Amino acid sequence: MNVLLLGSGGREHALAWKIAASPLLTKLHASPGNPGIGRFAELVKLDIADHSTVAAFCQEKKIDLVVVGPEGPLVAGIADDLRAWGIRVFGPSKAAARLEGSKGFTKDLCAKFNIPTAAYGRFGDLAAAKAYVEKMGAPIVIKADGLAAGKGVTIAMKLEEALAALEACFDGAFGSAGAEVVVEEYLTGEEASFFCLCDGATALPFGTAQDHKRVGDGDTGPNTGGMGAYSPAPVMTPEMTERTMREIIEPTMRGMANLGAPFAGILFAGLMITDQGPKLIEYNTRFGDPECQVLMMRLKDDLLVLLNAAVDGQLAHMSARWSDEAALTVVMAARGYPGTPEKGSVIRGLDEAASDGAEIFHAGTAINGGALVANGGRVLNVTATGATVGEAQKKAYGAIDHIDWPQGFFRRDIGWRAVEREQTGK
Ligand code: AMP
Ligand code: GLY
Repeated sequence: MNVLLLGSGGREHALAWKIAASPLLTKLHASPGNPGIGRFAELVKLDIADHSTVAAFCQEKKIDLVVVGPEGPLVAGIADDLRAWGIRVFGPSKAAARLEGSKGFTKDLCAKFNIPTAAYGRFGDLAAAKAYVEKMGAPIVIKADGLAAGKGVTIAMKLEEALAALEACFDGAFGSAGAEVVVEEYLTGEEASFFCLCDGATALPFGTAQDHKRVGDGDTGPNTGGMGAYSPAPVMTPEMTERTMREIIEPTMRGMANLGAPFAGILFAGLMITDQGPKLIEYNTRFGDPECQVLMMRLKDDLLVLLNAAVDGQLAHMSARWSDEAALTVVMAARGYPGTPEKGSVIRGLDEAASDGAEIFHAGTAINGGALVANGGRVLNVTATGATVGEAQKKAYGAIDHIDWPQGFFRRDIGWRAVEREQTGK
């Protein structure tokens, strides 16, 4: 098979690594890719926003499958447009990607199909939103409806913060993504990421993970796209997984089919495990980054076979096998992230770092004058496996010790919650 992979992050490097291991693969192309992905794929600069350019490339290169990494192109309808050209695509339609593209859409789906989630209101104007917030009181959560690169959520512990967040949203802080706002109840519990591979009718559980969203040790500082992750998530016991499938995922699959928008692709449920059981915080319609990196380390089966089955509606006949080992990834970021990262600093020592069995996935890297340099916020994902999360953690940090990049930084406590559990046996 000839495959085209769209995207340029650590998530896509992990997907490329796993796809390249498939005996089904003839040739992998990636756009735009990065130097890590370039080890497995021919990189091509396509204007991904111009779907007919992508389609023409697929026809010229006889691409048998397009794998879409990030949410932007999915929400913009790239899967529908390529399919109209007869090209096979792994990723949801524009209508199904509303599960990520509109928080209000997902909340209404939950209400209609009785899916447990935080109580909420949806507002298109400031006065009505303020009145609701004043009625509900703090703590309360304010979310821009549309895609805001993970920045559209405010957890307001005080009423004034909530009102200020509403004003910022309606003032255009998130552009058109904030023209509508979802206000929701503040949930408490432990968060987990739950993934399903879906073919429109069947959802196949596809691994669990926990990520660390805050930039600083001890889960402090501003939110990021994720500073590290581990898999599996200990809180997702077999019982919790069964409840999540029955109470959240399966009603979502039926609901989407019912609305004429069956979901095919990766359904990524952000869950809060509360005293009453699992509640949906949000859906994403793609793999998580960096969650994908730890999932790919543990997946024993051929990813291409599974992606093909999802595209062809054959998941009812499939299973996915996972290593019993834990996997953990530490994100190395460029100074300045999650604000404006410094670009261009030279990174050395990756071969030494990888020599002990760690996988170093590239995110924002580039080659400049023959040297590997930082070219984005999140730059490297140092990933390892072990019999326990603690062991995987030790290996990942051991690998980082070999990386010579003074301008980079990373959290030193990725996996702390799971390691603490392992140590105390709780
Ligand atoms: P989201 O982009 O919706 O995943 O929100 C980002 C983060 O905000 C989540 O991972 C949670 O940590 C937190 N969050 C979102 N919604 C809620 C909620 N209703 N209650 C508590 N925390 C929330
Ligand atoms: N790591 C969270 C995400 O990919 O949305």
